[in-house]
Amino acid sequence: MSAKPTVGVDDVAAYVPKLYLDMEEFAKRRGLSVDHIKKGIGMLEMAVPDTYEDAATMAANAALELLKKNDLKPSQIGRIYVGTESMDDKSKPIASKVVGMLEEVFGQGSFSHVDGVDHVFACIGATYALENTLDWIRSGRNRGKVGVVIATDIAKYDLGSDGEYTQGAGAVAMLVKEEPRLVLLEEAVGTCTKNERDFFKPLERENPVVDGKYSIGVYLDAMKCAYLNFLKDFLKIVKLEPNEAPTDKADYLAFHLPFPEMATQAAAYLFIHDWRDLPRWKEIEKETGPLPPRKNYTVEELLTEEYRQFRKRFTSSTQFKEVYSKKVYPSTIAGRRIGNSYTASLYFSLLSILETQRAHDLVGKRVGFASYGSGCSAKVFSGVFAEEYKQVSQSIRLFEKLDTRKRISFDDYVRLHESKPGSGDSILQPQNEYAIVKVGRGETDFGFRYYKYV
Ligand code: HMG
Repeated sequence: MSAKPTVGVDDVAAYVPKLYLDMEEFAKRRGLSVDHIKKGIGMLEMAVPDTYEDAATMAANAALELLKKNDLKPSQIGRIYVGTESMDDKSKPIASKVVGMLEEVFGQGSFSHVDGVDHVFACIGATYALENTLDWIRSGRNRGKVGVVIATDIAKYDLGSDGEYTQGAGAVAMLVKEEPRLVLLEEAVGTCTKNERDFFKPLERENPVVDGKYSIGVYLDAMKCAYLNFLKDFLKIVKLEPNEAPTDKADYLAFHLPFPEMATQAAAYLFIHDWRDLPRWKEIEKETGPLPPRKNYTVEELLTEEYRQFRKRFTSSTQFKEVYSKKVYPSTIAGRRIGNSYTASLYFSLLSILETQRAHDLVGKRVGFASYGSGCSAKVFSGVFAEEYKQVSQSIRLFEKLDTRKRISFDDYVRLHESKPGSGDSILQPQNEYAIVKVGRGETDFGFRYYKYV
């Protein structure tokens, strides 16, 4: 029997809106403490889409950059799968709009052979699209073609709500193939799926219904459930030394970031689970006091003041701070300047590691990924940086894109928040990018968004 191919992400391209709001200005205008927003939530800047943008233009812009820099021809691509929860249509996927936009550049009908569909499950949609595409390649059904997986979302909450200061937007397009040059994804995957009401978007509402604090508990609970399932596979591919924890095997951890400081809470919950039976725990308890006993392992129990306070003491412990700063913090740096980008946020965390760790040699280093989508589903999986990662990651330039954005005022942010995509009156004029140029108002095109490369 021939060996299974190694499969993973060969290259990536990121798109972030060219406008941002400074969160100090946001906090002051909303009468909130700046420390609450910048330290407690971890938000420094919020990416804000202009009126000519939507999740489809962001996806197409990221995909075009990916195809161009890899000199990919449409005939080499077998599928374009999109992960999103920002669709504007109950029937038509963003994948079909991306195909249309790419064909404007590559020629009419040039992508008509591809599989194109959206994967929708809150912030985990792109992870399902990625896993599905990896399996398509592993099975050989790709017949030599590559897959393009695009994570794209606009995180939008009601003005004045607690979710408002976590908003953001962006897209990450990933080239998925055999013998990847960037990150090789290992076969260990753990999933957890439940029926929860932490965050959802009923059709009659534009913005989500959210039970904020409860959603944090559901995230932690589902992530741990997925982690325990992941270990069943992972512990077959790695060998733990005495006193070693599974998370010690990861050099970096990348989490879904609904807000950047969520990574602190998620890492704390994982490390408490991983470390509490190891000798190191004695040292930790000297700083934190004893771990509160768990009785029934419910989400509510996780949110009790006693447990919350313990978690806070744990995150101030010497051992946590040392491991967090090395393994977790690097993945959160980009998110602090973008905000929640829902399904794209985990992949911005990966880019954040690549861009902030340029001084290190990452070949062979392992990243543990924790993906979460409300409603809910979690997936934990792992990847290893490939030999050619450094050369490939040179062209990502995410921080350059963040540095060259235009800062907008709080009043402009509010106006954009209340504007419909395609309504005109944009802050910037689109240039060398896809944009919405018209929204149909006729009998047979009512609400249809027309796009163009301008
Ligand atoms: P909040 O009211 O800001 O929460 O809501 P808080 O009062 O607990 O404050 C947050 C942190 O700021 C706390 O830190 C405070 O102590 C700290 P912690 O105790 O947790 O370590 N703080 C301060 N720190 C320094 N100086 C100060 C100060 N004041 C307070 N002066 C919440 C936060 C996330 C609940 C809210 O923003 C929200 O509802 N967000 C939307 C939902 C959400 O993000 N949920 C996260 C999990 S669900 C998920 O990830 C899925 C999602 O992405 C959607 C999808 O899947 O599609 C959302």
